[in-house]
Amino acid sequence: MTLLNMLKKGVKRTLFTTPSHNQKAHADKFLDSYYKIDYSEIEGFDNLHNPLGEIFKAQIRCAKVYGAKSLFFLNQGSTQGILASILTVASVGDKILIARNCHKSVLNGTILAKCDVDWIMPEYDENFGIYKEINPENLENILKFTQYKAFVITSPTYDGVISDIEKIAKICRQYGVILIVDEAHGSLLNFAEGRASAISQGADLVVNSLHKNAGAINPAAILMIGENSEIERDEVQKNLNLITTTSPSYPLLANIESIINFLASSKGKKEIEKLIKNIRKYKEKIKELGFEILEGENIEDTKISIRCKNGLSEELFEKHNIEDEEENENSLLFLCGIGTNENKLKKLYNALKKCREYANAHEKVQKEPFPCTKIQPHKAHKIETTITSKNNALHKISGETIIPYPPCRGIIYKGEIIQEYHLDFIEENVEVIDE
Ligand SMILES: Cc1ncc(COP(=O)(O)O)c(C=O)c1O
Repeated sequence: MTLLNMLKKGVKRTLFTTPSHNQKAHADKFLDSYYKIDYSEIEGFDNLHNPLGEIFKAQIRCAKVYGAKSLFFLNQGSTQGILASILTVASVGDKILIARNCHKSVLNGTILAKCDVDWIMPEYDENFGIYKEINPENLENILKFTQYKAFVITSPTYDGVISDIEKIAKICRQYGVILIVDEAHGSLLNFAEGRASAISQGADLVVNSLHKNAGAINPAAILMIGENSEIERDEVQKNLNLITTTSPSYPLLANIESIINFLASSKGKKEIEKLIKNIRKYKEKIKELGFEILEGENIEDTKISIRCKNGLSEELFEKHNIEDEEENENSLLFLCGIGTNENKLKKLYNALKKCREYANAHEKVQKEPFPCTKIQPHKAHKIETTITSKNNALHKISGETIIPYPPCRGIIYKGEIIQEYHLDFIEENVEVIDE
């Protein structure tokens, strides 16, 4: 029985358990259908912290869909999966290599695990002002000289750039390094024609945010262990339990399973095919308007990144009622996925048609400097800071972490040296750590 059917069936008993609402909405009838299936970990409904029954069976069924050794339903987004992955593989004193364009949860994971961090810079596209793939040769050159416990890579990136995970996984295996792939933005890769999830390409641990582009509700996500990985299910479960609520949302768990079943069904496959066909068609049409689009074999289809002059984001928001996902100096990102129908794409196209003067920025975006870590993040996290003016900040140790939202990626982390580049992100004063 699917989790959704289990919830729909409900129970005949009188429940003096949490939640107390008795499966009825009391404040807002709009949420009635949600309340109807909002149960807790009552008798027969299994336990997310030690799944042995219906949740476990559903997780096994979903793992088969991906060809994963194990799969975990996440109630708290990919964030939860990333934290648990790092807690699973690293302990105090271990070293982890991280691609710099990581989500903030990766760094937060290292603070919790108290492990040390080294960075590798991905390729950079100055025209679009975005990070691209990790060059496998660069990675191998680093792994040759330092022993790392794990390597964490974001693929696809926030902007949809996919790295060669198969090659990277082989290199990691050769050097005895565990590969963690933040595939939060790649939930459709396992189901789209000609694509593959990192889980089938040799990664050890992979997270997917099904809520980002696969049609699930916020913050539905999964964490998987690769079929040939030496990481054991119990180890991951134990670490997930450290950070997982004891009151998981059952509608959310049911949604995760339903969405995976949908994506794997012939109906879902057709829907993905149609979605990608439409996005490709509109990318061509947008190009005809004069906008440059981020393209290539390794660009995930559901992201539309267009190169443009500054101000397009506001123009679209204020005059055309369209909100983009992210803006940088030279490009705008539109996030699509299950739910993006042709009508929506047409609206974007029609709006861009009226904004042609913004097509293609001329300047190149300055690349971020290689970070200079003076104090490891897990140590810096606890250190007292003082305030200094921006004028005095250059070459001091940052006492602040600066993370623009979106994309929730650190420009500078607490404990790193403030370089010329970072001054643009500081207003008047900044916290620093005195040496
Ligand atoms: C690359 C990347 N990884 C991880 C996450 C965290 O995902 P979630 O919001 O599902 O916790 C995000 C969120 O924006 C992200 O962009």
